[in-house]
Amino acid sequence: MRKNIVAGNWKMNKTFDEADELVSQIIELLETKELGENTRMILCPPFPYLEMCTDYSNESYFSVGAQNVNDNEKGAYTGEVSAPMLASMEVEYCIVGHSERRAYYGETDAIVARKVDQLLKNDIRPIVCCGEVLEEREAGKQFDVVKRQITDGLFHLDAEAFGQVVIAYEPVWAIGTGKTATPQQAQEIHAFIRGLIAEKYGKEVADNTSILYGGSCKPSNAKELFANPDVDGGLIGGASLQAEDFVNIALAF
Ligand code: PGA
Repeated sequence: MRKNIVAGNWKMNKTFDEADELVSQIIELLETKELGENTRMILCPPFPYLEMCTDYSNESYFSVGAQNVNDNEKGAYTGEVSAPMLASMEVEYCIVGHSERRAYYGETDAIVARKVDQLLKNDIRPIVCCGEVLEEREAGKQFDVVKRQITDGLFHLDAEAFGQVVIAYEPVWAIGTGKTATPQQAQEIHAFIRGLIAEKYGKEVADNTSILYGGSCKPSNAKELFANPDVDGGLIGGASLQAEDFVNIALAF
C-alpha cells in the first residue's frame, strides 16, 4: 500500500540554531501525538543542516531529505552537492524539479531525469515536482504540462526504479501565494498523473506511488485535500517552518 507522506521543504530559511529548535519542537510534539501508522514525515532542510536532522532522526519519527542534488556523480562543480555525498550522510529522499529551481536555475526535464538517475543509483528516493504556472492553467494546458514533466523526467525508468519515486504536484500559482488548489482541482490532476503511471507501468505500480500536493497547504486545508483518494499527502513550504502547523498537517490524515 502506498504511504501517506508529509514532507517539509524549508527552502532557504532558518539559521542553524533556529533549525535545531524547530526540529526539537517537532519531536516534542510527536512525543505526545501519534502519527497514523501509514504516515511518513520527511524534513528537507538546507544542506548544512542535514546532519543535524539525521542525528535527530536516528532516535525518532521522521526521514530526512535534501532539497537539491547535482546531476553529476563527482568532480569540478564548485559549490555543488552530489548524490553519493547525500547517501553517505544517510539522507533518504531528495526533492527534484521544484518550480523554483526550474524558474531560477534553469532546471529542465532533461536535468530532472539525470538527477533522478543519480539519486536512484545511490538509493535515495526522489521527490519529483511537477505543476503548471498560472498562464498555463488559464489556457487549460495543465494536463499537457504535467504530462510532459512526468514523461520526460521519469518515464525513462524501468518499473522497479520508478517504484522508488514520490511525485509532488505543485501548481506554481499556489506556491507561497496563500492560494490553494481546491480539493477538486488537486484530485483531478492527481488522478490524471496516476493514470499516466498506470498506462506506462501498470495499475499496481500506479497504486503504490505516493502523489503529494504542494502549494499553500496548511492545517486548515490539509484534511480536505488529503481526503481525496489520489492525494497521498503534501509537500509543505511555509507551514513546515512552524512545528505546530507542520505536525498538525501530518495529523490531518
Ligand atoms: P508553500 O510551498 O507551502 O509555501 O506554498 C510549497 C513548496 O514550494 O513546496
